[in-house]
Amino acid sequence: MESLISLVNKIQRACTALGDHGEGSSLPTLWDSLPAIAVVGGQSSGKSSVLESVVGKDFLPRGAGIVTRRPLVLQLHRIDEGKEYAEFMHLPKKKFTDFAAVRQEISDETDRETGRSSKVISTVPIHLSIFSTNVVNLTLVDLPGLTKVAVDGQPDSIVQDIENMVRSFIEKPNCIILAISPANQDLATSDAIKISREVDPKGDRTFGVLTKIDLMDQGTNAVDILEGRGYKLRYPWVGVVNRSQADINKSVDMIAARRRERDYFNTTPEYRHLTDRMGSEYLGKMLSKHLEVVIKSRIPGLQALITKTISELETELSRLGKPVAADAGGKLYMIMEICRAFDQTFKEHLDGTRSGGEKI
Ligand code: GDP
Ligand code: NA
Ligand code: MG
Repeated sequence: MESLISLVNKIQRACTALGDHGEGSSLPTLWDSLPAIAVVGGQSSGKSSVLESVVGKDFLPRGAGIVTRRPLVLQLHRIDEGKEYAEFMHLPKKKFTDFAAVRQEISDETDRETGRSSKVISTVPIHLSIFSTNVVNLTLVDLPGLTKVAVDGQPDSIVQDIENMVRSFIEKPNCIILAISPANQDLATSDAIKISREVDPKGDRTFGVLTKIDLMDQGTNAVDILEGRGYKLRYPWVGVVNRSQADINKSVDMIAARRRERDYFNTTPEYRHLTDRMGSEYLGKMLSKHLEVVIKSRIPGLQALITKTISELETELSRLGKPVAADAGGKLYMIMEICRAFDQTFKEHLDGTRSGGEKI
């Protein structure tokens, strides 16, 4: 049976590809109802590093200042075999196998929308899919970092603009929040915690990620937080050790970085007992499992919405009549087929649940 996450990925892609044709239908609602994971935190807290570690690939633009200036919707698709590649929604026919070229394209596409000024942000997302044998099925959204003050010539509104953009993603009840906080700063001042608390006061959908554990002052450690005594969230904090700037400059690759991260938790006496639930690899697997559980719990609501969407699409298609405008009609057909597959898989998953079988 196809995994629920990969089905949700497909439907998300189809909804987006459909673009304007979906206006007035349930598609935008459907899109908003599909769960995704958004990465939030202050500038340089390690958001992009966490994303790269979870993917196990080096592909995000980085540097000083506001590098992430548009939301990046990143869909990870696990494939059984074959060479890994990436694909942008805005370049549907191009397969990227060189991840340095992916980074360049993210940066170019950001400039296309914002007009090259590093001072301007845009709420229009970039959609990127990665197909690999080494990823877990997951949809992640990278967002610009929260800031406290505008710097060199940035408009004063930038602080509020970024905050509004982040909030627009994380306030959706279906958004799972990955709150990134650096361990070498006081958690009480964490931008990620502050904003996630506002939209999710009970912490039902917030996962805390503690970065830069390796950079903590000598004689201090994160054990209290990681064991749930320091700042308790509903779900336990996950500690990670990403590549440092020096590692990046030396081009330390992700495989070596992951190994080193594992070694760090295994060999640091304070953390050894926690090693099974620390690190980027664990984080990726845990999130994928959680996403699957969340989707399962939402099946009835999603199914109703999908049934409605299918019937709307049928009406729309018959209105278009024959010959359908190749483009609009083709896209509508595509999404209808996906909706039907979705409906079918939902039923199978529900049957599986009823008979007690784990079919994922
Ligand atoms: P973002 O602005 O939140 O996306 O942060 P980045 O992921 O770009 O990271 C900012 C800087 O912190 C980079 O120089 C990273 O190399 C560094 N960094 C991030 N996480 C860690 C970590 O766990 N340990 C160390 N030593 N450096 C880190
Ligand atoms: Na940055
Ligand atoms: Mg970033």
